[in-house]
Amino acid sequence: MTPPQNTTVTSDDEQGVEPVDGISIDDLSAVEEVLVLDFGGQYSQLIARRIRECGVFAELLPSTTPVEKIRERAPKALVLSGGPASVYEPEAPPFPTQLLDLEIPMLGICYGMQAMVLALGGRVESAETGEFGRTDLVLRDDGGRLLGGLPPEQSCWMSHRDVVFEAPEGFTALASSPSSPVAACEFPDRGLYGIQFHPEVVHTPYGTEILTRFLRDIAGCEQQWSPKSVIAEQVERIQAQVGDGKVICGLSGGVDSSVAALLVHKAVGEKLTCVFVDHGLMRLNEAEQVVEAFEQFGIPLIHVEAEERFLAKLAGVDDPETKRKIIGAEFIRVFEEEAEKLEDVSFLVQGTLYSDVIESGGSDHAATIKSHHNVGGLPDDLEFDLVEPLRMLFKDEVRAVGAELGLPERMVWRQPFPGPGLGIRIVGGEVNRERLDILRSADAILQEEIRAAELYRQLWQSFCVLPVVRSVGVQGDGRTYAYPIVIRAVTSDDAMTADWARLPYDLLERVSNRIINEIRDVNRVALDISSKPPATIEWE
Ligand code: XMP
Repeated sequence: MTPPQNTTVTSDDEQGVEPVDGISIDDLSAVEEVLVLDFGGQYSQLIARRIRECGVFAELLPSTTPVEKIRERAPKALVLSGGPASVYEPEAPPFPTQLLDLEIPMLGICYGMQAMVLALGGRVESAETGEFGRTDLVLRDDGGRLLGGLPPEQSCWMSHRDVVFEAPEGFTALASSPSSPVAACEFPDRGLYGIQFHPEVVHTPYGTEILTRFLRDIAGCEQQWSPKSVIAEQVERIQAQVGDGKVICGLSGGVDSSVAALLVHKAVGEKLTCVFVDHGLMRLNEAEQVVEAFEQFGIPLIHVEAEERFLAKLAGVDDPETKRKIIGAEFIRVFEEEAEKLEDVSFLVQGTLYSDVIESGGSDHAATIKSHHNVGGLPDDLEFDLVEPLRMLFKDEVRAVGAELGLPERMVWRQPFPGPGLGIRIVGGEVNRERLDILRSADAILQEEIRAAELYRQLWQSFCVLPVVRSVGVQGDGRTYAYPIVIRAVTSDDAMTADWARLPYDLLERVSNRIINEIRDVNRVALDISSKPPATIEWE
């Protein structure tokens, strides 16, 4: 079950990136890591993120990973994720009992716990009613090694139907909830721990404390990892990969390609050239900000002002998929032309993130698959070797690395923006300069007011849409016949699901008044209050 999205947006004050002290390059071979074995749970990525937030590097591997491979990695501990299956389903991924031979601490979460308990002789049964959402947890006795010292009664987040009725021999039951007689159990002598609830979601108030306890007190982790430590490691790796070769990087203006470029520049200096294809579909002043930032860093940048080319190709095109294709194809053409001019380039930088890596095959069991929007849209058959310095990082870690490398705050925190840009936000009609100017002006007002209200970082995306229809209005003594602007603002963790943001009325009123007063061709402002699913975030 999906926990409620945080739809009530509050101001940004506590959202700063705080790079923690990192470790030096000499220590990197000794980086301690925890492996999260993924049984297909919707929170598996989140478990890895939370462990990293506790200062321990964590990586997600499929639950079917051969035990020998895990042994080679010498992890400090294993965490077994939740999963959508019932342990009694024929296809249910089994608990790999050879993991016990590794003799390292292991924490099973939800399905991970049930599978472990069942394999070791405990009793797990399918209950009539499951537990979904906020649930009361009551500790037994002193709470044991894992939960000892925490409040005897607390709430936690549950999402399960199978229930552990009896822990296996040697285990101690540590807690119960209304429907789970054994909601947590442990066998400290064998390093085995299990919890039915999800410590990784914010709705389990003591979740981080429980994870920290497992990592620090039980697994003996030193908690020294931070996104900052990635910088030294990646610089060394990039230098080893690239040697004396020439590198090219396509900038989109977004945080991923910018941070990837900064890391590569740090590693190979002027051997990197960035290409920024300005298709004329960016937001107000965005192209200038990118150019300015990269000039400040002294990174060689080719700024291709290609608006005319793109708009000429888009003339008369109404169909959204055709628009996308035209923009994508033209982007590649421009990029290739520039790459050819540079000569002898052998490497291409890509801002692939860890979530992309996981989604394209990191997990065997995940029930949901993200449709791929390849930002920047470069084809696979370009004859370059790929340099992907962000492959192991989550988005928030990329932001922390960007902040550490001195990327301007505006770019560090830039909301995701689609590759085809404003081209897919003019819907039901042709994309032309007049409409782009209207949409850009409206969008700039929305962004300005959202930033002034300190809500920008709370929102996954906030933008305006221009439907190509006109309606009647009245302004002064005259009737108008003008475009509407739709405000779209969503909260989301990963764009796979999203909820419409409950923006304050006074903010909406300001935005609406300003858009209608300041932009002659707009006489109506509407608010999109649809979630994803069934709607999508973008309109086209
Ligand atoms: P939807 O609209 O599918 O969007 O809910 C999910 C996320 O993907 C972004 N998006 C795109 N990104 N090219 C891109 O590079 C596209 O054609 C495209 N369409 C959607 C969208 O902004 C959201 O973050």
